[in-house]
Amino acid sequence: MRVPFIAGNWKMNKDREGTVKLAQDLKEKIGNEEYKGVEVGVCPPSVYLHAVGAELAGTPIGLGAQNMYHEDEGAFTGEISGKMLKGFKCKYVILGHSERRHILGETNHEVCLKVHAALNVDLTPIVCVGETLLERIQERTIEVIKEQISGSLAVLTAERASRIVVAYEPVWAIGTGKAATTEQAQEVHKAIRGTLKSRYGEEISSTIRIQYGGSVKPDNARELLSQEDIDGALIGGASLKADSFLGIIAAASSLAGEATAK
Ligand code: 13P
Repeated sequence: MRVPFIAGNWKMNKDREGTVKLAQDLKEKIGNEEYKGVEVGVCPPSVYLHAVGAELAGTPIGLGAQNMYHEDEGAFTGEISGKMLKGFKCKYVILGHSERRHILGETNHEVCLKVHAALNVDLTPIVCVGETLLERIQERTIEVIKEQISGSLAVLTAERASRIVVAYEPVWAIGTGKAATTEQAQEVHKAIRGTLKSRYGEEISSTIRIQYGGSVKPDNARELLSQEDIDGALIGGASLKADSFLGIIAAASSLAGEATAK
């Protein structure tokens, strides 16, 4: 069984005080029974990784970064390496987020280099894919997703693939309050699993977690997470408040509890 994975992408929000307060609020409650059976991670802005890491040390909440560079060190002004993220005790790194692809022009090739570099230092890459509204209207969603998967995961062996997480984030659903329907999300997740299966075989593809991201809130989380191929969520806006983030974790936890009881 795939352990559901709920991660908060805090993006470029909050000041230092607000960030630390959010980490403290989560820390206080995360040990409670209603959040059991779920893997939880938070990805603050890199300048706050140290402060958040200090707050979360010894808790079950894993630390992640929102991006990294593919080289370990050297003359790369403004960049941060995977090795440095490991120094902050990061477990995860979000790669190829749609904001990086569409606002900052990141390509599949760059994402791919970063995926390999992250795995080299034992970071779990959360590899994001997702179609724009235009691509959906043109009925090119599955084609675009397959292209992003094969480009971002080029030359990745099955062993390496078994250590990644994929996040499906339709661009039109991010920050819009308009989440994909369960049917839309499940259709794409199933196609992603199928693509992973054709590349890595049944055994590996059935263990890779595929998160959904895009306007996930406590009140739509249960329905989305109950889909067969949706194994967690990558949360933006709703992860900036402890109550709403914990509400989503609680939904994942109750579904996980029901699945184990079956
Ligand atoms: P929202 O949850 O704010 O739609 O953002 C999703 C996202 O981009 C997470 O990476």
